[in-house]
Amino acid sequence: MKKKNFSLVAVFMVSICGFSQNARIKIDLDRTVGEIDEKIYGNFVEHLGRCVYGGIYEEGSELADERGFRLDVLKAVKELKVTQMRYPGGNFVSNYHWKDGVGPKNERPPRMELAWARLETNRFGTNEFMEWAHEVGTEPYFAVNMGTGTIEEAQQWVEYCNVAEGPCYAELRKEHGYPEPWNIKYWSLGNEMDGFWQMGHLNAEDYAKKAREAAKLMKLTSPGIKLIAAGSSNYRPDADPNEWNVKILAELRDVVDYLALHMYVGNPNDDYYNYLSTPMVLEERTKIVKGLIAREMENADRGDRDPIYIAWDEYNSWYRARDGEYMTGERALEERYNLEDALVIAGFLNAFIRNADIVKIANMAQMVNVIAPIFTSEDDMFIQTIYYPLQMFARNAHGTSLDVFVDCETYKTEEFFVGLGESTTQHDAVPYLDVSASYNNDEIIINVVNRHKDEAIATDIISQSGDFDGEISIVEVNGLNIKATNDFGKTEVKSEKKKPVMAKGNVLTYNFPAHSFTQLIAKLK
Ligand code: AHR
Repeated sequence: MKKKNFSLVAVFMVSICGFSQNARIKIDLDRTVGEIDEKIYGNFVEHLGRCVYGGIYEEGSELADERGFRLDVLKAVKELKVTQMRYPGGNFVSNYHWKDGVGPKNERPPRMELAWARLETNRFGTNEFMEWAHEVGTEPYFAVNMGTGTIEEAQQWVEYCNVAEGPCYAELRKEHGYPEPWNIKYWSLGNEMDGFWQMGHLNAEDYAKKAREAAKLMKLTSPGIKLIAAGSSNYRPDADPNEWNVKILAELRDVVDYLALHMYVGNPNDDYYNYLSTPMVLEERTKIVKGLIAREMENADRGDRDPIYIAWDEYNSWYRARDGEYMTGERALEERYNLEDALVIAGFLNAFIRNADIVKIANMAQMVNVIAPIFTSEDDMFIQTIYYPLQMFARNAHGTSLDVFVDCETYKTEEFFVGLGESTTQHDAVPYLDVSASYNNDEIIINVVNRHKDEAIATDIISQSGDFDGEISIVEVNGLNIKATNDFGKTEVKSEKKKPVMAKGNVLTYNFPAHSFTQLIAKLK
């Protein structure tokens, strides 16, 4: 562990006066960041591999209901408290024509799915997804096809979903057995349109032009909708993601409500400490884009609408199932997660909370089987490690985000690739403790990742706003070692309730175990 640079005198003073050398976390209810938007606990269903077919939907399965919804998966999704669900892609959406997926199932055309090399049967589409989302109790978030699709097709989809009656696509929905409109509020204007891999990939000027016209038609059809523009997802060494972001913001600043960003990290070289620092990169990107947005907002004409916010509408760890045979077909992207991945996810969620004033949507990618917290077979399922931190945050980390002071030892990383195909990063001072906190209904919720692989970190959590009151509840995600993993019939990593602790006045001293994520919930007097 890299030691802090104490002078000899300070070390001497500490030893004779008996000062604590514990790490410190200070919580002050007056130091706030912003309100946490519950939509940061979103997820994502794409027609990819076994996310839809064999994941949330499996016709004829003994585990499914008469609609084909896998009930074991539905239960696990509900227990995850997913606040928003993005659909139907992803790269898939850039070759998706929504009309293929509505109406009598036996009349729907099977299509070659070019993004992930599958046959798309279209037996699951808009109405099946909406029924499922209702059952889950989650807010739908649709993406339109800005690749091979037209602006007219996007308009017609909004009409089909949101217009009560009259025009032909509203009437078509009624004919299909859905008399009431679905009223889908969140719509993104394409997916990763800056990526050369995207079908119908555009340059920034062409995308902005197409997105602005699509937005016009979509808003004229359903004025209350919120629109998300495709920000840059291309952080490859030869790309300039912020050049794209600047252009899109300049062109769409009056029109859209969010800018979408995507990020996948990984640990291909098996370096735990480098890997655990990757959420810092997400935070840096957030702050840069926040600055770009602030600059554009000075000249924007938005009436009384909110400024543009960031939607991290795809994030996760993804590197094992990311080339060759793992990228295509029926079993694409079937990543299996371990404890270190769960700690990285907790780090992402901490970063969203610390930036709650600007990050208002976040969607883990994806929901089932495909880089996902839930994994199925034909007759079973299990919960992956990354499920647990997400569930703890989604259940408890609400309210006002607090600007927390953290003083702890740090480590230095090498220069390394953030994820496959990504640019490199390097940090001189990664804090071993990664912390966020919020205040909600008289409770303080503190989320702490101890990145240290081998050592527990004794920490004083100091309330600057009065004494702690009563017992402090504690839940921890951990495992025997950083590679601990879950599988069918095996759970090595999960969330576990610990014995509650008491503070002394305004100081709670707690020993955060090595390689752990801990959530503490406390009240003040
Ligand atoms: O989530 C997997 C894929 O990653 C999505 O389809 C795409 O948007 C991103 O590149």
